[in-house]
Amino acid sequence: MSRVLIIGAGGVGAVVAHKCAQAPDVFSEILLASRTLSRCEKIRDDVRELQGRTIGVAQVDADNVDETVALIQSFKPDLLLNVALPYQDLPLMDACLAAGVDYLDTANYEPIDEAKFEYKWQWAYRERYEKAGIMALMGSGFDPGVTNVFCAYAQKRLFDEIHTVDIIDCNAGSHGKAFATNFNPEINIREITQNGRYWENGEWVETKPMQYSQTFDFPEVGERKAYLLYHEELESLVLHLKGLKRIRFWMTFGEEYLTHLRVLQNVGMTRIDPVEFQGQPIVPIQFLKALLPDPASLAEGYTGKTSIGCLIEGVKEGQPRKVLIYNVCDHAECHREVRAQAVSYTTGVPAMVGAKMMLTGQWKRAGVWHMEQFDPEPFLEELGQRGLPWHVKELEPSR
Ligand SMILES: NC(=O)c1ccc[n+]([C@@H]2O[C@H](COP(=O)([O-])OP(=O)(O)OC[C@H]3O[C@@H](n4cnc5c(N)ncnc54)[C@H](OP(=O)(O)O)[C@@H]3O)[C@@H](O)[C@H]2O)c1
Repeated sequence: MSRVLIIGAGGVGAVVAHKCAQAPDVFSEILLASRTLSRCEKIRDDVRELQGRTIGVAQVDADNVDETVALIQSFKPDLLLNVALPYQDLPLMDACLAAGVDYLDTANYEPIDEAKFEYKWQWAYRERYEKAGIMALMGSGFDPGVTNVFCAYAQKRLFDEIHTVDIIDCNAGSHGKAFATNFNPEINIREITQNGRYWENGEWVETKPMQYSQTFDFPEVGERKAYLLYHEELESLVLHLKGLKRIRFWMTFGEEYLTHLRVLQNVGMTRIDPVEFQGQPIVPIQFLKALLPDPASLAEGYTGKTSIGCLIEGVKEGQPRKVLIYNVCDHAECHREVRAQAVSYTTGVPAMVGAKMMLTGQWKRAGVWHMEQFDPEPFLEELGQRGLPWHVKELEPSR
């Protein structure tokens, strides 16, 4: 029995609220707080209708540490689950430190004025969290999150040595809009338009945005072209996978999406620096976000599936081995269950499962930790039961 404070009432926050509400034995009291109270209230009403439970709601500016500390002190949660934006990671970690509460997020910190995501800012909290006897779990979404756990499982059960990992992420769904992003547009576009990066033989190799592409055969979807991107789980996995020689991250994009993105970039709409407009400074990408569909609004009528996994090669008992560990998730089924699309769902379910691991003491250690640093098996067992079944497919090893 525990109390959880969820911060952020977007597409992912809604799924987390529903999934926590489905597990009253663990999450006995739930408070959803965000910048806009009306969004929390809408989610509260949906949770009441679909899950038959009442959750609390509150307004909070998560950039303001004192405000969050006051909210923590009044609600007294056992865990703060951050599904606001990466910009809020550090103020929320500060608030947890001040109030002595465990912390979990799904995306690493990035400064608002620089499209650069790295763990160094959050790793800097390690000693303070250890001293305070509280825990922070980094990146408990799908990627990062489940992908880290798939790698930990491969290391524990499937391989003696892991040589290469390709994380492959495909959304083969269709939302019927000319251009939309499946999670926060600002964060999504910043991620895609920055340089790519992968790790090989102990070194990071930088690429131009979308410089490399490759076709992969995605389970239940088929062959799709995916582009090499930098993704944050690479930074911790290179530290925790033994014998690793190369790790890369690939994501699919449709031609329509790439064409829109190219035009928006060419005309300056994806810029993150302020420009003067009629005597006012505006940040073009923030203005663009205001025009694009809200990711949560895509859920109704969304068809198709996501197919995300880790393609891993290495050695087991002296023999070469290649496997794909993956999950396939159907947009329409997510909508039926919690009125969400699959990208929010595949993020929100692992956030709830990570929270359960912490609250039940199955994953519990003071300090700042990554998903692959814990036993993958209880997490994966729970993940399958909570709506994201996963599979291991044996493949012919490369020569
Ligand atoms: N690991 C993964 O697999 C994965 C995948 C997808 C997304 N994510 C992460 O999940 C998070 C949520 O994504 P999303 O699609 O749900 O985004 P979203 O729909 O834009 O929702 C973000 C929510 O955070 C709230 N918020 C923003 N600033 C705030 C502040 N200062 N104080 C309080 N609340 C604030 C927003 O409030 P308003 O309603 O007022 O705007 C909004 O409700 C993001 O960090 C994203 O990067 C992770």
